[in-house]
Amino acid sequence: MQADTILVTGGAGFIGSNFILQWLAAETAAVINLDKLTYAGNPANLANVASDRRYRFLQGDICDREFIAELLITHRPRAIVHFAAESHVDRSIHGPDDFIRTNLNGTFSLLEESRAYWSGLSGAAHDQFRFLHVSTDEVYGSLGANDPAFTENTRYAPNSPYSASKAGSDHLVRAYFHTYGLPVLTTNCSNNYGPFQFPEKLIPLVILHAISGKPIPIYGDGQNVRDWLYVADHCEAIRTVLSKGRTGETYNIGGRNELKNLDVVRTICSTLDELRPNDPVVPHQNLIKFVTDRPGHDRRYAMDASKIESELGWKPRETFETGIRKTVQWYLEHEAWVQSVTSGSYRQWMAKQYSL
Ligand code: NAD
Ligand code: DAU
Repeated sequence: MQADTILVTGGAGFIGSNFILQWLAAETAAVINLDKLTYAGNPANLANVASDRRYRFLQGDICDREFIAELLITHRPRAIVHFAAESHVDRSIHGPDDFIRTNLNGTFSLLEESRAYWSGLSGAAHDQFRFLHVSTDEVYGSLGANDPAFTENTRYAPNSPYSASKAGSDHLVRAYFHTYGLPVLTTNCSNNYGPFQFPEKLIPLVILHAISGKPIPIYGDGQNVRDWLYVADHCEAIRTVLSKGRTGETYNIGGRNELKNLDVVRTICSTLDELRPNDPVVPHQNLIKFVTDRPGHDRRYAMDASKIESELGWKPRETFETGIRKTVQWYLEHEAWVQSVTSGSYRQWMAKQYSL
């Protein structure tokens, strides 16, 4: 591996795999992907780079300190980009244990071993090392209809076990900067969508249910608002923060694409009406079914991304209209991938969550 190798955790998941694919296409440095391969991790996402000499996959757990310590000493990364997490809010409601273990204890383990590794570096390797922590807008809680968007100074108010575990990990990262001087960067991003998203999340779930004539479950009244960002734009933002961000700072990332869930679902349905006129149920929106609301369901998220835009010059490339069309097309063209992730444990999850 090269001297300027980066370590990515959780690189077999949705955003991590998009990040690695984009990184290897745009940058010269090598990548080590450390992933436990939970239900959400899929090495097939990285099939296109499996034979790239700059790419290496290591299966492991971020909670395993001995493993992390050895990995850092052996591969000597110049940066860590930390995606690994339990990421699904509904699963955190059914069983928070894994969220506390990975998101809190795992981030703590990674920070401790990074601190030990970084302390042993000298010269440029020490000065240029970065720990970039990938976090979420959900740490800020829920907005009212007329509230201004979240800024980096908004008070933390997490409402689900998932967002509380992410908030805790953000605080640990902050503390390692202030206490030990570890050169950290934190990004808080809004809802992502795009290729390789596991179909427990709203957008891929709606696409797959719509094309197979299954009910499309909408929680509550469908008026909850999310700020959608195409995943490639998030990955570019992370690369920008890694190269230009100021250590100790946090950067909000969002698409300025606030949409009600019902409108997201209707857009997907009308795109499919056009692309798949012969599906079992057309118009696809006849499949919409309002179901029991998510407990503690946050009403609205919106990100003020002015800081990353003005300080670092990042801007999203996709609008929701262009991004959602690409995403729908991707799922239609990747039937084998869909089959591979919707067997076994996925069906058990669907039965538990939706009584399907
Ligand atoms: P994901 O669930 O698709 O992927 C998570 C990955 O982490 C999987 O590959 C999984 O195998 C791995 N992992 C889980 N536990 C691990 C452990 N203990 N050790 C090593 N690897 C482990 O998640 P995602 O949607 O790609 O999200 C990635 C990160 O981005 C998370 O930190 C999430 O909080 C954050 N985020 C996600 C979104 C979004 O909309 N999806 C938005 C903002 C921030
Ligand atoms: O905001 C960033 C967060 O976005 C990330 O930190 C999380 O990791 C990611 O999972 C996502 O969280 P959400 O809870 O917002 O995403 P999800 O796709 O689960 O749900 C989006 C909205 O759609 C939310 O208001 C709940 C609703 N929903 C979701 C599902 C799965 C439904 O109405 N029906 C569903 O079946």
